Amino acid sequence: MSAPILSVRALERRVGDVEILRRIDLDVMPGEAIGVIGPSGSGKSSLLRCIAGLDEVSGGAVMVEGRQTRPGDGAVGMVFQQFNLWPHLTARENVALALKLVRRMPAADAAAKADAALARVGLGALGGRKPAALSGGQQQRVAIARTLAMEPRVLLFDEPTAALDPELTTEVLDVIRDLAAAGTTMLVVSHEMGFIARLSTRVVFLDHGVVVQAAPPAALFGAQAEPRVRSFLQTYLDRVAWARDA
Ligand SMILES: Nc1ncnc2c1ncn2[C@@H]1O[C@H](COP(=O)(O)OP(=O)(O)OP(=O)(O)O)[C@@H](O)[C@H]1O
Ligand SMILES: [Mg+2]
Repeated sequence: MSAPILSVRALERRVGDVEILRRIDLDVMPGEAIGVIGPSGSGKSSLLRCIAGLDEVSGGAVMVEGRQTRPGDGAVGMVFQQFNLWPHLTARENVALALKLVRRMPAADAAAKADAALARVGLGALGGRKPAALSGGQQQRVAIARTLAMEPRVLLFDEPTAALDPELTTEVLDVIRDLAAAGTTMLVVSHEMGFIARLSTRVVFLDHGVVVQAAPPAALFGAQAEPRVRSFLQTYLDRVAWARDA
């Protein structure tokens, strides 16, 4: 049995009187894809942001490979709903930027690494394009390549397709699925329940900042769902049904 690559221990986040995350415990093994679901305001983004070091935690710890993470150590990479690409830079330059500025990589090496990352998301031919000349799905794939290029140990996706038209969603989900199949450790927040059901090794259901249930998708989307999970999923039953039968 190998050790967890990511350990979240008694993680708490409070802002004023508001308890956003309440003693979250989660161990993620190398190569796992954890789906994170739950109602709006349940703390999904906060959990990912705390793991990524973007939100201050009030208690507990986040460890990657047994070491407490520090902001900027690159252990965790995050992909957001909004792509946040620089409009005046090409796809390649967008991906290479942090390699040059943060990793101090020489420009030619950073460009080569950026091209390799773009190739992994199926955009090897489009590195010279600026965001305005790319579809939303392609822009999100550039954003994924930008995160991949930093070689994080754990990848976090916060509703990566929520800003996309339905037809463009598939190409981004395909990229995430391929990364998972290649053994990338990841946590994915998404309302695409069929995708989560098929992608995830385990699914975590959050409500009011608490993990209500963490279980393999067959259990959480099936007969072993907790009542709160079941009532939430009622709204998604049609889509979950085809995912379960697939
Ligand atoms: N800086 C903050 N100050 C006060 N409350 C906050 C802050 N950030 C988040 N919250 C609150 O924490 C709770 C969890 O927010 P979070 O964005 O993590 O939820 P979520 O599950 O990602 O929701 P959604 O599905 O709508 O994206 C919400 O009630 C939100 O209003
Ligand atoms: Mg959110």
